[in-house]
Amino acid sequence: MKIKWTKYIFALLIAGFFAFTFHIYSSGNYNYRNQYDRPLAQRGELVWQKYNCQSCHQMYGLGGYLGPDLTNLVSSKGKSEAYILALIQTGNLQMPSYNLSEDEKRELMEFLKSTDASGVSDPRSFEKEITGMISKDGEPK
Ligand code: HEC
Repeated sequence: MKIKWTKYIFALLIAGFFAFTFHIYSSGNYNYRNQYDRPLAQRGELVWQKYNCQSCHQMYGLGGYLGPDLTNLVSSKGKSEAYILALIQTGNLQMPSYNLSEDEKRELMEFLKSTDASGVSDPRSFEKEITGMISKDGEPK
């Protein structure tokens, strides 16, 4: 008797689709919205725009090129909150100093956390996975 392979292949593709969908949505990469205070981060973005940090710094690779990309600043090694706030306060040879209010500091830090949680900025450092997803240092983003 002739076996109808098409039926089985079709069933396999549907099962594969659901398995992959389940894998993607259960792998925990979609919780980034809970890792920071959204309203605070949104006000922080306004602080970022008010002082025109974008003119020298990039977010997600876009912006001025005098200073470094700050998308993933808060998770970079050695870049604690105290370091970041101190540098903004004092500046250095190339970076201007900013006398931010306590509220502005808190909002700006939350904005920096939100960009860090939302993705990775430098595509040249991405690794491609067999599933078609990308990761950095083995951590899915
Ligand atoms: C005139 C250009 C310019 C502007 C405007 C500017 N920066 Fe910078 N910033 C720099 C440069 C250049 C550096 C790198 C300094 C160094 O490495 O010595 C830097 C460094 C930094 C760093 C340290 C990064 C690291 O990896 O150590 C932080 C944080 C930072 N800037 C935040 C800000 C914020 C927030 C604003 C807006 C309030 C801002 N900058 C506006 C030029 C600028």
